[in-house]
Amino acid sequence: MVCLIDPPYPKGNRVHVEVTSRWSGLYKFTKEEIERAINYANSRIYLGSGSAGQVYQGVLPSGQLVAIKHIHKTAMSGSFMREVEQLSKVRHPNLVCLFGYCDQEGDQYLVYEYCANGNLAQNLLRSDSVLPWETRVKILRDCASVLRFLHTHPDGCIVHRDIKLTNILLTEDKVPKLSDFGLAKMLEMEETKVFTDVRGTIGYMDPEYITHSKLTCASDIYSFGVVALQLLSGRKVIELDIVARDSLTKKFKHRASYNKGCVRGDGQSSEKYNNKD
Ligand SMILES: Nc1ncnc2c1ncn2[C@@H]1O[C@H](COP(=O)(O)OP(=O)(O)OP(=O)(O)O)[C@@H](O)[C@H]1O
Ligand SMILES: [Mg+2]
Repeated sequence: MVCLIDPPYPKGNRVHVEVTSRWSGLYKFTKEEIERAINYANSRIYLGSGSAGQVYQGVLPSGQLVAIKHIHKTAMSGSFMREVEQLSKVRHPNLVCLFGYCDQEGDQYLVYEYCANGNLAQNLLRSDSVLPWETRVKILRDCASVLRFLHTHPDGCIVHRDIKLTNILLTEDKVPKLSDFGLAKMLEMEETKVFTDVRGTIGYMDPEYITHSKLTCASDIYSFGVVALQLLSGRKVIELDIVARDSLTKKFKHRASYNKGCVRGDGQSSEKYNNKD
């Protein structure tokens, strides 16, 4: 257990302490506290944005660095609640820790532990960055471990539904932390559910789930397989291009039978891959 789940304010500085009973262990921030954390140096440090909103670096009065996601008002309904509910229930060393949230005057924020090395795509796909082979293997092992933890959770199988490079964050020590539970669903063990809303990221989505809308934990395993192929090759999956996903998986099948040594011991591809496709 590596997450700090104490309220993030030192005792003397506490302005508004409310830990909700519904979401145990989560600190309920006021909007004022959020604004102060984001503007701590009179300027905002923008970390990135996704479909749910923008993410900024923040500093709490205790000095702790955090990442604060401001959820778009137009974001998919329910993703905020799902994220808060799922992440308040589960704790694992390879899950990004949710410290708290703010839901005030129509604005919603999520406050997470800060992952200093950004997401895995930034580390893997940048031409000037080299992830050593040992680190790639450790990242894969840790991701497999957290998926197993989610899929065998005592309350039911938690299907993440959006396993991809940008949802795997890296700490200062390059420890991977799975993030983004906005799409997660909980299933009974061994259950398959048919959902009318097929969601996820094209390129990582299990073809069976796309075709039949049938969701099982195997969908996460498929996406994890795509991540594994990316870690081996350093290649992008071109989003919105299903053919590219197929060519990446097909290429690997072909390679596996003809060239077992496609990755050298230093973690680089034996053939010079570029990241343009
Ligand atoms: N806890 C965090 N620590 C550091 N950086 C973070 C953290 N959470 C998010 N980020 C950065 O902000 C970016 C945007 O995150 P977000 O989850 O909103 O979108 P995404 O995962 O990139 O895309 P999508 O909306 O498709 O899931 C991430 O890619 C990451 O680089
Ligand atoms: Mg994300």
